[in-house]
Amino acid sequence: MQEKVLYAMSALFDTPDAIIQAAESVQKAGYKKFDVNTPYPVHGMDNAMKLKPSTLGYFAFIIGIFGAIMAVAGMGYLTGVDYPNVMGGKPFFALPAFIPITFEVTVLSASVATVVIMIAFFFKLPNNSHPVHNTEYMKNVSDDKFGVLVEAKDAMFDAAKVEDLFRSLGASRIIPIYYDLEDIRTVGNIFRPKFVLFLAIVVFVSAGLTYGVLNRLLFIPPFTWMVYQPRVNAQQKSNMFADGSGMRNPVDGTVARGWMPYRYSGKPDEAGLNLVNPLIPNTHTLDLGKKNFDVYCSPCHGYLAKGDSRLRGQFPNPPTLHSDKVRNWTDGRIYAVITDGQNSMPSYSRLVSPSDRWAVILYIRELQRALNAKQEDLK
Ligand code: HEC
Repeated sequence: MQEKVLYAMSALFDTPDAIIQAAESVQKAGYKKFDVNTPYPVHGMDNAMKLKPSTLGYFAFIIGIFGAIMAVAGMGYLTGVDYPNVMGGKPFFALPAFIPITFEVTVLSASVATVVIMIAFFFKLPNNSHPVHNTEYMKNVSDDKFGVLVEAKDAMFDAAKVEDLFRSLGASRIIPIYYDLEDIRTVGNIFRPKFVLFLAIVVFVSAGLTYGVLNRLLFIPPFTWMVYQPRVNAQQKSNMFADGSGMRNPVDGTVARGWMPYRYSGKPDEAGLNLVNPLIPNTHTLDLGKKNFDVYCSPCHGYLAKGDSRLRGQFPNPPTLHSDKVRNWTDGRIYAVITDGQNSMPSYSRLVSPSDRWAVILYIRELQRALNAKQEDLK
């Protein structure tokens, strides 16, 4: 047996002005539980209804603050306690670096909380039914009419009096809204079996389709994926070659393009006899030489190559490059030292390119001459 209960008395008006006036009058008459429904937002309605500002903002604020605290605490724990690691010289608790993420988490939690709270608390989910759903009144106010309704729950409610008020305001239609207690309990609940079944089917079908497309369909030729092509990873055993190594050494007697092998490895004297500096001293080559010398050689040899190391005993001090020995060496002999290293001095062949090495040597020659100037140099 269905039980019909009066939910509200409602009235329809034809113009926005009429609904504003009606809202004002209903509010002035002292009704508290009343509502206005219009097809689009009508300006000045909040004022006419004397609506208080929504409390949703407070929820958003609280959850936002909570998000900010969680973000700072999370990052602080991670970088300061769980995995303390110096990054870019920053302290473990580097607040300025946390600001972007804190901001993002604050905004994210506040906005997600706003939506969830709005749906769960304000719209009373899981109940998605409302007495005005599927009524003449709702059909009109969601189309071209403006409606106001006074709920039967209102302390002052008296159907006849509300009807009189509506009539005096010039309502075009007055409709009582009834609702069905049984409906609210069954139809309105989103957890009713039929709906849950529907939801489950939607979830399974869409998950299945997504899986099928992303994991099966897209791997059927002609789709090919570079990451899954046959290849040899670094350090991985290869079945291609008998020795199990994925890479091949250059064939004996061949030289890679653009690369000149160094012939005098371990034979500095031979290098000194055979290698000739291909560069001539000019502003460009001397600048290049000074730049490389200052960066790669001066920490040990000193800016003037006097052997005054800046490493303060962390590395054996080299001899001066102004000795007669080095001054009498050919460029090729110095080239051999830079390329191969000498005793405790390591090779600089990885850091200084061949042409930069020759430029460095021109610069060393300049230093040698500057610190050993002869009378005739002044002429
Ligand atoms: C890490 C410190 C260090 C750096 C950097 C360094 N050297 Fe040396 N160098 C030495 C030491 C130490 C010796 C002496 C090695 C020995 O005992 O024979 C030396 C020796 C030399 C010699 C031979 C000197 C002699 O009297 O036998 C030359 C020439 C030379 N370095 C040139 C260079 C040039 C050019 C660079 C820059 C590309 C350079 N070095 C960078 C430490 C360094």
